[in-house]
Amino acid sequence: MAFSFALIAVVALMGTVHCQFGSILNECREKEMDIFFLLDSSTSIYVNDFMEQQQFVRDVINRLDINELYTRVGVLTFSDDYTRPALGLSRARSQAELLNSINDSNLPYRTGITNTHLALRYVRENNEFRPGVTKVMVVVTDGGSRQQGSTAREAQLAQDEGFYVFVVGVGQYRDESEWRAMASNPYDRFIFNVTEFRQLSYVATQLPTRACPLPPIFMGTCQVGQPADVIFVAGPANNDRAYDIIENFVDRTRDPRRFLSYTLLLDICQSSAGGIQPSEFASYCNRLNEPGVADESTLSDLVARMENAITINRRANFDARQVIVILMDVETFAYASYTTLRDFASLGNRSGIELVLVGMGMSNRDIDFARSRLIGNVFNVEDGLLEYQETVLRSITDKICEGINQSTPSIDIDAN
Ligand SMILES: *[C@@H]1O[C@H](CO)[C@@H](O)[C@H](O)[C@H]1NC(C)=O
Ligand SMILES: *[C@@H]1O[C@H](CO)[C@@H](O)[C@H](O)[C@H]1NC(C)=O
Ligand SMILES: *[C@@H]1O[C@H](CO)[C@@H](O)[C@H](O)[C@H]1NC(C)=O
Ligand SMILES: *[C@@H]1O[C@H](CO)[C@@H](O)[C@H](O)[C@H]1NC(C)=O
Repeated sequence: MAFSFALIAVVALMGTVHCQFGSILNECREKEMDIFFLLDSSTSIYVNDFMEQQQFVRDVINRLDINELYTRVGVLTFSDDYTRPALGLSRARSQAELLNSINDSNLPYRTGITNTHLALRYVRENNEFRPGVTKVMVVVTDGGSRQQGSTAREAQLAQDEGFYVFVVGVGQYRDESEWRAMASNPYDRFIFNVTEFRQLSYVATQLPTRACPLPPIFMGTCQVGQPADVIFVAGPANNDRAYDIIENFVDRTRDPRRFLSYTLLLDICQSSAGGIQPSEFASYCNRLNEPGVADESTLSDLVARMENAITINRRANFDARQVIVILMDVETFAYASYTTLRDFASLGNRSGIELVLVGMGMSNRDIDFARSRLIGNVFNVEDGLLEYQETVLRSITDKICEGINQSTPSIDIDAN
């Protein structure tokens, strides 16, 4: 008895120490992750135990790199329904702010039956999750949900949509079959079996170690079915933005057989960045290469570089389809004329290659001009965070994917 009391005291002390020093784990530093905690507060969970769940969430938060760019945390409590509004992913911008908001007014002890499926569905459909980052749900529950079939189905849907699901099994009425119905595989990594709530402080040390190394689950909208070359070309003024848009396309594209090869004609990438895989992007586009400044010849230079890339890629891989994506910044487009746009369009015509133009913060007038002179495939990504522009990013991916998947091989540009 005395021994276990001492142990609790030590554990409590360690908890305090962690709070004070905010010891972010190394593997969690700069981790791009959206993690959502779903805390069971149904009648079968005692109120004191529920308070331990709040402390558990704080203890985990202390080990994460909380920041708008890196790890973001959402929390809700559920029983027959879930708390609304939940503590959303974008509510807190810092660790201190987040810790402060883990309190009874945001996360009330509810009591009631256990409608786990409603909470799972709410989180899955929550549109705050950022594409391309690791998405995690942590369900703290004793199991015993009211509708076991719906719970299992909702958990499966979440996994199908790219979520990792951890289950922290707790409480007096422990239903282990339901833990397994919810958790990702392998179970010994994704299920924590907690016989007493104070063991949650141990789980709080293990969970970040297991969650932070998880890569994002790739949920592309583009299934690549045949070899293709995708050529990205960008004007100089907004190369970093262009690079982010390219990465967003990569995140949405499922290409396990590596059918795609990429050519990046960006100033921040070495000019030899042709025929590469996404894993090589960083070594070619090391950002030490300074972007240039747009002038009258920028657009015609881009057309020339594109023609050159088409020819080189065609020699390397004759059967591959080719798709060209032009990432257009405002400064470069200021030099666009009827003639330069016609040069782009006629390149597409002559080669039979799908051209896609993606404006970056262009005005409506410029977009209309590009549409009327160039091609139908003109999109515009507004300034600001990409994560709020799901619709246009998805359309861009679909259009590129359509070009990749077309069955007719393109006409050789050197044919005449
Ligand atoms: C709970 O957190 C909110 C921030 O989300 C804060 O405004 C409020 O004062 C906190 N309430 C308590 C009782 O600490
Ligand atoms: C959880 O722990 C209990 C007690 O140690 C054990 O009987 C049970 O098999 C464990 N369940 C799982 C799913 O690991
Ligand atoms: C592309 O082709 C693959 C394989 O043929 C197919 O599964 C996928 O649905 C196609 N995607 C699009 C967007 O056409
Ligand atoms: C491209 O081809 C279409 C029809 O094939 C034609 O109407 C259009 O004028 C051509 N555009 C250019 C710029 O060559």
